[in-house]
Amino acid sequence: MYNISIGNFHNEEVLIVPMFEDTIAKEDNVISKKMDFLKEKNILNLSQDKIISSVIEKNDHLCYLIFLGLGNSENIDKEGIRKSFGKLGKYLKNIKSESIKIDLTSVIDNNKIDLNNMIKALTEGLMLSAYKFDKYITENYGYKNENPHIKIYLGEDVDNKDINNNIKEIVNISNIIYKVRDMINEPPNVMYPQTFENEVLKLSNLYNFDVEVLEEDDIKLLNMNAFLSVSKGSDKKAKLIIMRYRGDKSSEESLGLVGKGITYDAGGYSIKSSNSMVNMKADMGGAASVVGIMSCIALNKLKTNVTAVIPLCENVISNNSYKPGEIIKSMSGKTIEVINVDAEGRLILADAITYIIRKEKVSQIIDIATLTNAVKVTFGEKVAASITNDVDFYRELEDAMKISDEKIWRMPNYKEYRDLLKSDIADIKNYSDTNSKLITAGMFIQAFIEDKPWIHIDISGTSFIEDSMEYCTKGGTGFSVRTIYELLKNKSDENYEYIIKGGKDNEQK
Ligand code: BES
Ligand code: ZN
Ligand code: ZN
Repeated sequence: MYNISIGNFHNEEVLIVPMFEDTIAKEDNVISKKMDFLKEKNILNLSQDKIISSVIEKNDHLCYLIFLGLGNSENIDKEGIRKSFGKLGKYLKNIKSESIKIDLTSVIDNNKIDLNNMIKALTEGLMLSAYKFDKYITENYGYKNENPHIKIYLGEDVDNKDINNNIKEIVNISNIIYKVRDMINEPPNVMYPQTFENEVLKLSNLYNFDVEVLEEDDIKLLNMNAFLSVSKGSDKKAKLIIMRYRGDKSSEESLGLVGKGITYDAGGYSIKSSNSMVNMKADMGGAASVVGIMSCIALNKLKTNVTAVIPLCENVISNNSYKPGEIIKSMSGKTIEVINVDAEGRLILADAITYIIRKEKVSQIIDIATLTNAVKVTFGEKVAASITNDVDFYRELEDAMKISDEKIWRMPNYKEYRDLLKSDIADIKNYSDTNSKLITAGMFIQAFIEDKPWIHIDISGTSFIEDSMEYCTKGGTGFSVRTIYELLKNKSDENYEYIIKGGKDNEQK
């Protein structure tokens, strides 16, 4: 993968020159002459993420020159940088070159984005777009550029140490996101509860967090019948993975993360159509993100405490499968009338949440899940949906989103929605045949939250994408890892302040 640092090459093979539409090259040299020529011929287009390439002679050798458009300097922001460099990253994938220099000197001075943020965003754009999942293609044609060196040139006298550390942090997190994407992209005959556990153990050794795995007998003893019911149809044994990281020994508090880990969702007897089943290997995207987040915080030794729980199983058909109409007693004691066995995510999450509250005693909870098709239909592949019972806690997520630029839109949490899950014969039902399926899914989970501050994030549209984006490749994305990492990084920063009003979400009671 890319080896990125601040520095200079004198005989680079590829020279990238990022440019704003409205900036004029400073010096009168071979590059500015080239620019003038391309401009005159009406070839130079520097709107966002445009790539114009040519060849120049530099120090007696030929050099491939790429102008990278960043659009108007008054409109530039972090996300624009990620997108432009994401496009560049995809372009560079097939270029045979060991030494690539990015000359940033023409764009450093602008009114919109400081140097640090610019370099972090460009590193993210380059790294996140360079991912490939091609291990099952036996004959790979063409050139594979495995480890090019990229030097970012900022001028001669710049203190590089802090900037290089920031680059390293982004490269490390991106590498963890690659692992998350791999886990999501692996087919269901390769990625199932046992192999998922193997991956978690590898990552916990690499990054240093604790893992405990509960097997079916342990899960039975805990009365996690909602979770076990979903798993009944599969010959693969369910597992409950618990990950713990203690970075702040002075605090008893710990944030709880819960990730949906359905390694394949056929819908059970509420069977899915052939088309909607194809990508259901990705129904463990929430679980993979949670493993990624634990890896990021452990690697960067954040001063905070996090406990994560992942229920892992398959939702498939056999003569043992659970059936629509069953009434199940969950770990919490609440009885659930199962109307639809394809609404299985909320069942496994309900028990995992009861476990993390009662056994792990966490103080706040974030659950991350590919829970409903409705979120994909409503928001598409670029925006996730959320629900919360605590606006102050939610503000922390908003602060984190400002850093990551991942987009999560908050849904209303009105009591009217909760009423839709009333059952005639049990405490709650898992499905309501109404139009608000995205929200009722969240309402079901809230019924098990025992009043803890909670945020639910539905990543069905964003965790696995069918159309590639500027800095995201098709398939698993690792959506939510960067945002929740930033939330936890803020928490571990003594200077981070957010307004605590001490109130629950009164507006929406
Ligand atoms: N895993 C699916 C949700 C999903 C759909 C994720 C498409 C990613 C892409 C979930 O278990 C499910 O089947 N949800 C149902 C819920 C319904 C029965 C209330 C859905 O959304 O159709
Ligand atoms: Zn389902
Ligand atoms: Zn599912």
